[in-house]
Amino acid sequence: MPRLRAHATIMAMDTLVDTMNAGTGPAPEIEIMGTDHIEFWVGNARQAAYYYQRAFGFDLVAYAGPETGLRDRASYVLQQGKVRFVLTTGLSPDHPVVRHQALHGDGVRDVALWVTDARKAFATAVARGATVVHEPEVRADADGEVVVAAIAAAGDTIHSLVQRDGYAGAFLPGFQPARGLGQMDAGLRYVDHVVTNVEDGRMVAWQQHYEKVFGFRFFANFDDKDISTEFSALRSVVVANHNERIKMPINEPAEGRRRSQIQEYLDFYQGPGVQHIALATDDIVATVRTLRGNGVAFQYTPDSYYNAIADRLPGVAEDVEELKAMGILVDRDDKGYMLQLFTKPVEDRPTLFFEIIQRRGSTSFGKGNFKALFESIERDQAARGNL
Ligand code: FE2
Repeated sequence: MPRLRAHATIMAMDTLVDTMNAGTGPAPEIEIMGTDHIEFWVGNARQAAYYYQRAFGFDLVAYAGPETGLRDRASYVLQQGKVRFVLTTGLSPDHPVVRHQALHGDGVRDVALWVTDARKAFATAVARGATVVHEPEVRADADGEVVVAAIAAAGDTIHSLVQRDGYAGAFLPGFQPARGLGQMDAGLRYVDHVVTNVEDGRMVAWQQHYEKVFGFRFFANFDDKDISTEFSALRSVVVANHNERIKMPINEPAEGRRRSQIQEYLDFYQGPGVQHIALATDDIVATVRTLRGNGVAFQYTPDSYYNAIADRLPGVAEDVEELKAMGILVDRDDKGYMLQLFTKPVEDRPTLFFEIIQRRGSTSFGKGNFKALFESIERDQAARGNL
């Protein structure tokens, strides 16, 4: 099958799904077991940690800061299911974390990948053209050692490569176990995908970068015919690793009558970066009900949406009235269906947001919901005066 390129082909999602060959073929040279953690550089990590505990149901499990001998920053490690977030603040005006936060606002610095061999992964990636952030280093404490290296991703974002088979501690050497507000699990299980926004004309270059450097393969694409509304448009391509534990959609803005929501992100983030993190649940109705009860704000779904998708609803196990009450979106492909809902941005800048997703067979990204989603985003964009 010839390689499909973004821009070049408009294909139905079910045709795309047939081209996937999940998890087969020889072992990759860079073996990635999953997302190790996602680190956010923020203005006030102590308060952000409270928000992610109270609003999203994370558990505080580890901490590093002045009290643990780390003089220049404070980091809080939050866990729910297999999802691990690290929230870090710098403690002086010239600190790199503080400068990053001043430029970008709160945002994702590091999409850290869990690898079986960090030295080999780093050497392979760099030999294939990755930009070095830091060389492999061994960090150790009484609980063992980890090997961590890092390479550049889009903009100021990086990928740490974390090898932790020799470590039994709470997170990484230097962190101490911490107790937070107590268990408030919202049912979030793992990171389904992480989406990056890049500048107009850069999407294919980043797709090729991930294919070349990591050996990722093309997974799906959507062009501006799929993803456009009356006003704005974007193009998107998805790359995935060998075992599909890492799926990375990459978006770029497309010409529309008004400013693309991707361009709005780029303008406010001052460049490329992580747009949204999709977190998987086994019970999206319960998860969204919990998050809404905790005060998480979601994109609005009009009642008319459920009339428009009536053909997708037969065979859906969930109570449609409950889906409606929670505003949950439904899409189908030939493998099954999926349920999803997007939060509003979690900062004052219209940048990072979250997706809650439950897959019932479907491997898609909710193409059938793009229009409904974007019209909702555009209502907010217009309210900000940015459409
Ligand atoms: Fe998504």
